[in-house]
Amino acid sequence: MSNLEKTLIVIKPDGFKKGLVGKIISRFEDRGFQIVNLKLFQFDVDSAGRFYEAHKDKHFFDELVSFICSGNTVGCIIEGNNAISTVRLMIGNTKSTEALPGTIRGDYGTGFTDNIIHASDSVESFIKESKIIFN
Ligand code: CMP
Repeated sequence: MSNLEKTLIVIKPDGFKKGLVGKIISRFEDRGFQIVNLKLFQFDVDSAGRFYEAHKDKHFFDELVSFICSGNTVGCIIEGNNAISTVRLMIGNTKSTEALPGTIRGDYGTGFTDNIIHASDSVESFIKESKIIFN
């Protein structure tokens, strides 16, 4: 049975600087997902703080906001069967050094903050995060 869902990915400044935008988006297209919306932009501190609000009390919050605001990013809404969980599997473990080869972070990530890509972890996160990026 199919479960058509949308999810949001954000290619972070390290992924953009490494020239990985095309390769990353191709992975999702190759997997059969549709690109529904796409935007090149740079976070400001206010929108980054709202985007990562769930982490505001964590020790790494300031570093995370500073990093995500440090350069261009690409936001992309992706649609397909079980998009939220499948895209999370495809991006891999949050900590790049523990992400499996074949996942996006496992193939391209170097760190914890600099882990190439973000993807929504639930329908609620998708709605909240995509509103911040796509108004
Ligand atoms: P992301 O999927 O964008 O969601 C929250 C981000 O916080 C996560 O990827 C990492 O980049 C970052 N993060 C999570 N845990 C840590 C940590 N312990 N130290 C530094 N950054 C972290």
